[in-house]
Amino acid sequence: MKDIEFIYKDALVSRDEVKETAGVLTSYIGHLSDISKVGKTAPYKIDYNEAGSSINLPFDSSILEMVNDAVKKVDVKNLKYIIVVGIGGSNLGTKAVYDSLRGALDPFFANKTPKIIFADTNSPKLLKDIRTVLEKNIEVSEEVLINIISKSGTTVETIANFEAIYAFLEERFEDIKKRVVVTTDHGSKLWEKAEKDGLEMLPIPQIVGGRYSVFSAVGLFPLALVGIDVTALLNGARVMHDKCVKEDVSENYALMSAVVLYLHNKKGITIHNSFFFNPELESLGKWYRQLMAESIGKRYTTDGKEVHTGITPIVSIGSTDLHSMVQLYLGGLKDKFTTFIYASGNSGKEAVPKNLVFPDLVEGIEGMEFAKIMDTIFSGVKESYKKGGLPFIEILFPQIDEYSLGQFLQFKMIEIMFLARLFEINAFDQPNVEDYKKEVRKILLSEK
Ligand code: PA5
Repeated sequence: MKDIEFIYKDALVSRDEVKETAGVLTSYIGHLSDISKVGKTAPYKIDYNEAGSSINLPFDSSILEMVNDAVKKVDVKNLKYIIVVGIGGSNLGTKAVYDSLRGALDPFFANKTPKIIFADTNSPKLLKDIRTVLEKNIEVSEEVLINIISKSGTTVETIANFEAIYAFLEERFEDIKKRVVVTTDHGSKLWEKAEKDGLEMLPIPQIVGGRYSVFSAVGLFPLALVGIDVTALLNGARVMHDKCVKEDVSENYALMSAVVLYLHNKKGITIHNSFFFNPELESLGKWYRQLMAESIGKRYTTDGKEVHTGITPIVSIGSTDLHSMVQLYLGGLKDKFTTFIYASGNSGKEAVPKNLVFPDLVEGIEGMEFAKIMDTIFSGVKESYKKGGLPFIEILFPQIDEYSLGQFLQFKMIEIMFLARLFEINAFDQPNVEDYKKEVRKILLSEK
């Protein structure tokens, strides 16, 4: 199995700066290493006592067993649609892996089932369309399963969507209760109610926050249900974990990436552009965008100093955004640091025909594989960045599969933990997200 590659030679930082900044994290790396894989030999005893313990999820065989048991209880043969009802950390990781592997045209491959339908925001149009799809395509309850995922169990959008979808399925199927799986914190209000109603339930370890939960039942259950190889996903994550608790910055991808991002931020480069050159990775970018924004965007340091810190994450898609955003990136303010992410040759042997309809319009493309065209565009973009003096690093996937995705997800979660340490902020809370949630609940109550 080939590992993802990380290249940092085009970052505009000196070796000394990197060494010095990485040194600040030595004791935190030691801490992550200490809380890792408690017991040190498989089968590991996993504790979830520490913020950061989420890095142990890929080693927790009890979670995989629980998920596999839950999958066995579902009649997957007849299953057509899994409706994942959840938002933010409760669905972005699942969507990242699903979209990366299934691609943009998944809805058109009618026979490739089961499919996941994601119900996140409250949209009348989305809800109406879900209802129509289910009315047209579902004849018996075994063809559908609702997986409601909410750590807190009280998120407005999630509960509202669930109630609506459940209600219209209940009108048709008496036994719809059996087609619901609830993923939430053990002991949340949702947990208590689901338990009373006798619903199937999957717990999330209490300390694991939404955006760090993709390797818990939050991500593993729906992904395993659609036949994604979650064992390979976890294998990738495990290999990356071991790399990212090493002290040597040249071997530790998460450490190097965090240090480089931090140093550029200190030089006034406040935007981080994750530039994906495989369009099917766009949702992976959106998962990372949330991870960085919610973890690093903070008003206070851990010891209460007001700092209003953050790096603004943006996501771009190559080559689409070369025709939309790149003028700004190359010609505009030099306030962006870029991570290019690319899997070359991933799209098989598709090629431009040798005999062209319009032979003279673009010279040199006849017979050329699309992967080669994309490689060329990717190289050209990097050259322009170099000429413009714009800093970047690269993450190269050998292929887009479960193993590489597991590596990437774990790499980025540990990177963000390091970055938060450098900024001296809490990577694991989201006080201002909670603020808006409280305000919405207050208004809903007052309008009752
Ligand atoms: O990462 C986070 O903590 C948030 O994005 C939450 O996942 C999101 O707000 C949904 O919350 P919950 O899972 O409690 O419904």
